[in-house]
Amino acid sequence: MVIRPQNPIFFIGYDTKVQAQVHVTHPEVTPPRLEIRNLVRLFEGKAVVDDVSLSIQPGHVTCLLGPSGCGKSTTLRMIAGVDIQNSGQIYVDGNLICDTVFRVPPERRSIGLMFQDFALFPHLTVGENVAFGLSGPKEKKHKRVSELLERVGLFHFIGDYPHSLSGGEQQRVALARALAPRPRVMLMDEPFSGLDDRLRDGIRDETLALLKEEGTSVLLVTHEPEEAMRMADEIALMRDGRIVQRGAPYNIYKSPADKEAVAFFSDINVLQGTVQGALVDTAFGEFLAPGVPDGGAVEIVFRPQHVGIDFDRGGRGPNPTELQGTPARGLVERARFMGSESLVEFRMDHDGAVLKATVPNVFLPKVGTAMWLTVRRDRCFIFPKKR
Ligand SMILES: Nc1ncnc2c1ncn2[C@@H]1O[C@H](COP(=O)(O)OP(=O)(O)OP(=O)(O)O)[C@@H](O)[C@H]1O
Ligand SMILES: [Mg+2]
Repeated sequence: MVIRPQNPIFFIGYDTKVQAQVHVTHPEVTPPRLEIRNLVRLFEGKAVVDDVSLSIQPGHVTCLLGPSGCGKSTTLRMIAGVDIQNSGQIYVDGNLICDTVFRVPPERRSIGLMFQDFALFPHLTVGENVAFGLSGPKEKKHKRVSELLERVGLFHFIGDYPHSLSGGEQQRVALARALAPRPRVMLMDEPFSGLDDRLRDGIRDETLALLKEEGTSVLLVTHEPEEAMRMADEIALMRDGRIVQRGAPYNIYKSPADKEAVAFFSDINVLQGTVQGALVDTAFGEFLAPGVPDGGAVEIVFRPQHVGIDFDRGGRGPNPTELQGTPARGLVERARFMGSESLVEFRMDHDGAVLKATVPNVFLPKVGTAMWLTVRRDRCFIFPKKR
């Protein structure tokens, strides 16, 4: 048991069997539903989760978004209690559930789990699967099971065995099973990745609606930016074991922390430049780089959808607006139709670099066609170049 040095100290019974000692320094403020502080997990001396802190408010969905191997599942496993951190603390509703000394067992954390391989118990019926984590009188359990199965549209399967259900139906039963005991927090690790593309969007939306109705706080792990954009109130962007940025999806998309954060959500174009007098001179005109010393290397990053293209008129380009800056010429190197838009790659005259532009619908100019590119200057991000 750990008693923290701060005052005032309150002792709150977390559970009838296991008593967690908790300090609440500001008792008048509602604590987050889930809070993790400075979690570290080492494997063979290397920090795969490196000082991760996060908090989720009641009823909110936070997506932990990051590339494969960045430590997402390891973070979730520590919160679930199936792995133990080397340092850091985990709180639910302000109550300490785990640090390096004290540990509430997984089944007493009021945390629901839903992983990609959400295996239902094959020898139990759909109804028995959903009832699995429930205790109390039979009628009460039956009421909760029926209510959830009605809600996911599968009440008619209540007496059937899982093998007779489709993948999508089994997924909905697994969701009902995880929600049945009314967990305070749901941890979901890529729960939709096993589903076929056509089913996925519908099930994602249905799942989100149900989680919101139940008022459960959710930490959802995904490596798909679209999924995070669709589901999250807040995205925590994770890389190499660390949270590099947190915010509402729109804010992360519009104000990314670095080049990699831009690249996570779309293809990117990068112009290299050197700062002189807080300005960077490029083929697309000058860009402001305030705060960067003379001689500092910077990268100007923009998305292909913010590149405008125009035809060559006898060696001259368009007359751009102020927002577009100076046009620069390139030759079409490749053009592909992507479904709702076309992606055109250009080899630029001035430095031979390749830049990408997306154009709505079908636009497939011939390889070698000369065209003029402009960039939306208000959609460019300027970052000091990392070594
Ligand atoms: N038990 C373990 N022993 C040693 N290394 C481990 C162990 N578990 C995870 N790792 C390593 O920790 C790193 C993070 O793994 P983790 O499963 O958390 O990644 P992830 O972000 O969930 O990736 P993915 O998107 O591929 O599921 C990986 O390099 C992995 O190899
Ligand atoms: Mg994982």
